[in-house]
Amino acid sequence: MDYKTFLGPMNHIGIAVPDIEAAIDMYRTVFGVEDITEPADLPPQGVTYAFVNLPTGQVELITPYGDMSPISKFLKNNPKGGMHHLCFEVKDIHEASLLMAERGMRVLNEPRIGAHGTPVVFLHPGDAGGVLIELMETPKEPH
Ligand code: CO
Repeated sequence: MDYKTFLGPMNHIGIAVPDIEAAIDMYRTVFGVEDITEPADLPPQGVTYAFVNLPTGQVELITPYGDMSPISKFLKNNPKGGMHHLCFEVKDIHEASLLMAERGMRVLNEPRIGAHGTPVVFLHPGDAGGVLIELMETPKEPH
């Protein structure tokens, strides 16, 4: 793998919100964004999400789904919501995952299907400058 081009485009910024309808409404009425997806549930990841589509990428609004949501604790600590993760695209998630582990990063999960329908892994923020990083395999179809 080419070291210099390991990370592909930044795909989205994940924002945890306590109320996804209110957050969508804010992006729509305050910022005037029209292209926002309907909220959808992703039970295996314990989130409900919606994408705010912008020319440079997406804001991924996420709110807890179910009792075991990984973002419940984050919202407990940040009741108004806040920046939760950064997502970069990679060509091959399995290769990327192995390489990250080889380089001493804690890879938090086996590759699993994310909100874009392609496999993702998360890297421990303690190994990545305090930022939770999501690596996502680039969708085969343009998105
Ligand atoms: Co994400």
